[in-house]
Amino acid sequence: MFSNRRFAALAGLAIAMLILADVPSVSSAALSGKDDYMKNCAGCHGADGKGNGPDLYVVPGVAPADLTLLAKRNGGVFPFQQTEDAIDGRKGIPSHKRFDMPFWGVTMQTPGKEFTPESDARVKARIDAIVRYIESIQQR
Ligand code: HEC
Repeated sequence: MFSNRRFAALAGLAIAMLILADVPSVSSAALSGKDDYMKNCAGCHGADGKGNGPDLYVVPGVAPADLTLLAKRNGGVFPFQQTEDAIDGRKGIPSHKRFDMPFWGVTMQTPGKEFTPESDARVKARIDAIVRYIESIQQR
């Protein structure tokens, strides 16, 4: 039998592993856009994309956008590039209220490593896949 202390240590280790496993990393670049969305975005934007996820803690009064209305709000055309830039967060910062959502173009880089054209390309591919998923859930 485990002693209580040993059990606590094992439980702590299991929790630490779970937390580590949740950090966005290059290894999850193989995720589909949908999986990536469910893992990193649904908490705020909702599993259905309508902006009603449970993590509405960030800035009181700023609701995460309804991501199913992007095409409708843009005259029926899905704004692919704009959506990609909005998620990346590193372009056009002054014109966007962007302290409410992580800058995913930065968050999805490998922690502690310098950004390179290759790492940027990996992040862009990952964001592209998410944008394609968001495009697939537009309300017509
Ligand atoms: C911590 C909560 C949070 C998470 C997690 C989050 N977002 Fe957001 N997001 C927001 C908020 C809040 C806004 C609205 C910002 C504003 O109005 O300035 C927003 C805005 C956006 C927009 C701009 C929509 C528009 O109106 O043009 C897009 C696109 C978007 N998020 C996509 C994503 C994607 C994709 C992910 C996952 C990679 C994600 N978000 C994760 C909170 C979040």
